[in-house]
Amino acid sequence: MSTSLRIEDRGSHLLATLDRPEKRNAIDQELVDALHALCARLEVERRTLVLAGSGGDFAAGADIAQLRERRAPDALAGINTRCFQRIRALPMPVIAVLEGYALGGGAELAYAADIRIGTPSLTIGNPETGLGIIAAAGATWRLPQIVGDALAAEMLLTGRLLDAAEALAAGLVSAVLEPEAALARATEIAERIAKLDPAATQATKRTLLAPASAHPAIELQEQAVLFESDEKQRRMTAFLERRSRSTGAATEGKARR
Ligand code: COA
Repeated sequence: MSTSLRIEDRGSHLLATLDRPEKRNAIDQELVDALHALCARLEVERRTLVLAGSGGDFAAGADIAQLRERRAPDALAGINTRCFQRIRALPMPVIAVLEGYALGGGAELAYAADIRIGTPSLTIGNPETGLGIIAAAGATWRLPQIVGDALAAEMLLTGRLLDAAEALAAGLVSAVLEPEAALARATEIAERIAKLDPAATQATKRTLLAPASAHPAIELQEQAVLFESDEKQRRMTAFLERRSRSTGAATEGKARR
C-alpha cells in the first residue's frame, strides 16, 4: 500500500489525498502506481472519486527528479498520460479539490477530473516548456476543451499560470471556496450524485467523453438501454405516484372546502 496516496471511504465516495507534502505532492512513480491501484478498485466498485492534496497544495507537477532521468522509451510509455487517461475514464464522476499549486502533471491530473473546485490559494498551469518538455499528459487536448483554444494556447505556449480568480473566470474551476468549504462542497456533490441512478450517471459520463463523431448515436444507444431498465421504471413511477398523491390530496382538500 502506498504511503503517498491516502484513501478514505466516505460512503458516498472515496476521498483520495495526494500525500507527499514535503515535495508539494509531486507525482512520482509510486503515486502513479497508487493511482492505478485506486482506478482498478473504482472500475469495479463504481464510486465517485474526490481527489485532493495535503499540506496546502494539490500537486506541483510530475516529480522532476524522476522526469530528468526519463528517456524516449519512457515518454512513449506515457507513464502519467495513461494514468490520467484511466482516471478520466473512470465510470463514475471525479471531483478535484484544488488548493495551492496545481502545476504541470498536477494540473493535468486536475484537467482529467469531471468537476474542479478551487480554493483562494490556487495557482494552476503548465510550466513544462520552461523545463524543456511539453505538457504531454492531457493538457494539449483537454485544456482547450475546458478553457477554449485561445487561453489554452496562451497558457501552454507561455507557461502563464492562473490564480484562483482567473481560473474561475476561465471556467477551469466551478467555484472558489476556502479549503474546508471546498472539501465540503465536493462531498455535497458526491452525495447528490449518490442519490441519482448510477447507470444513468455512468451513461452520461460515457456520452460526455465520446468523440464528436460518436454523437448522436451514442446518446440513443445509451438511452435505449436505460429505457428498458427497472430503475427508470421505478423512479418514474415513484415520481408520477407522488404527484398523483399530492394532486389527489389537493383536490380532496378543495372538495372539502
Ligand atoms: N518535482 C519534484 N520535486 C518538487 C516539485 C516537482 N515538480 N515541486 C516541488 N518539489 C520539491 C522541491 O524540490 C522541494 O524539495 P526539497 O525541499 O527537498 O528541496 C520541495 O518540493 C518544496 O518546494 P520548494 O521549491 O522549496 O517550494 P517553494 O514554495 O519555494 O516553490 C514551487 C514551490 C511549486 C513554485 C516550486 O517548487 C516549483 O516551481 N516546482 C516545480 C513546478 C513545475 O515546474 N512543475 C511542472 C513539472 S512537470
